[in-house]
Amino acid sequence: MATLLVCSATDDLSTLCSALEAAAAAPEGQVRDLKVVLWPAAFDPWDVVAVAAWNPPAGLLPALPALKFVASIGAGIEHILQCPDLPEEVPITRIVDTQQAQGMAEYVLWAALHFHRGFDEILARQTSRTWRVPPQAAASAFRVGIMGLGGMGTQVAKRLRDNGFSVSAWARRAHELQGVQTFAGSTPPAEFLALSDMVVCLLPLTAQTTGLCNAEFFAAMKPGAAFVNAGRGQQVVTGDLLAALDAGQLRGAVLDVFDTEPLSQQSPLWSHPKVIVTPHMASAATDASIACQIVSNVQRVRSGQAIENTVTREQGY
Ligand code: GLV
Repeated sequence: MATLLVCSATDDLSTLCSALEAAAAAPEGQVRDLKVVLWPAAFDPWDVVAVAAWNPPAGLLPALPALKFVASIGAGIEHILQCPDLPEEVPITRIVDTQQAQGMAEYVLWAALHFHRGFDEILARQTSRTWRVPPQAAASAFRVGIMGLGGMGTQVAKRLRDNGFSVSAWARRAHELQGVQTFAGSTPPAEFLALSDMVVCLLPLTAQTTGLCNAEFFAAMKPGAAFVNAGRGQQVVTGDLLAALDAGQLRGAVLDVFDTEPLSQQSPLWSHPKVIVTPHMASAATDASIACQIVSNVQRVRSGQAIENTVTREQGY
């Protein structure tokens, strides 16, 4: 029987597996003869038409001769591209989810309010029982610079704009977004970095974005600005970020993603007074939404239709 194999070398995907089974069995689905198998349970490699993966284990994908596509169970696909034995021709899909983008917009809005209203300073003063009223300014006086203007970045930019913040956005390709100052190019322009009170990284992990946020990058930011990373940990050189925070070049950082996750107990980020660590929770699609998208693509592949939300390997997203 045609099989959808669910696998991860790092995470427990049993709940998602149940959601995939439910989606395949749903009355509106036409894939009731689809078997969902949670790796490493037994399966016939010739039956596997699709793999739903997060950090797929090495050795698995090349052993599936009937594989039609590999589905990332998240928005990012770098964990699949990094697989050393990823078969060359097989298409890769990602999750595109409006609610996930809204979740990201909420996370960044919270960070913008945190810094704009001075909650970082207020919380720091609470430890010394210091009562000091910070000056109040309009949200429009606070400029948020967003790096990455795909589905997530666009929702984030709109949410901030609609809440009165001044918003700039930089992306590789040119975009137009009402009420948002946009920049295009291969690297973040000096003007974009120098004018933003808070820079937010929402970029996919590619060769070009790995290590992008380094000493030079932080030095080009507006003195006293804040930094938010909800892209990928590998985009930030942690030592350079800590140096910029300690030198006072940066006011604070909100970090949701890290080189190694879970973040190591020994990481200095946990206890740094200017850093807020969140456990890669900025935004996620629900299991039901992930399952629905993947099962729909299985259905498409089996009825000879083109699958949706495929990525361009060369671009990395
Ligand atoms: C989360 O990081 C995702 O890739 O969906």
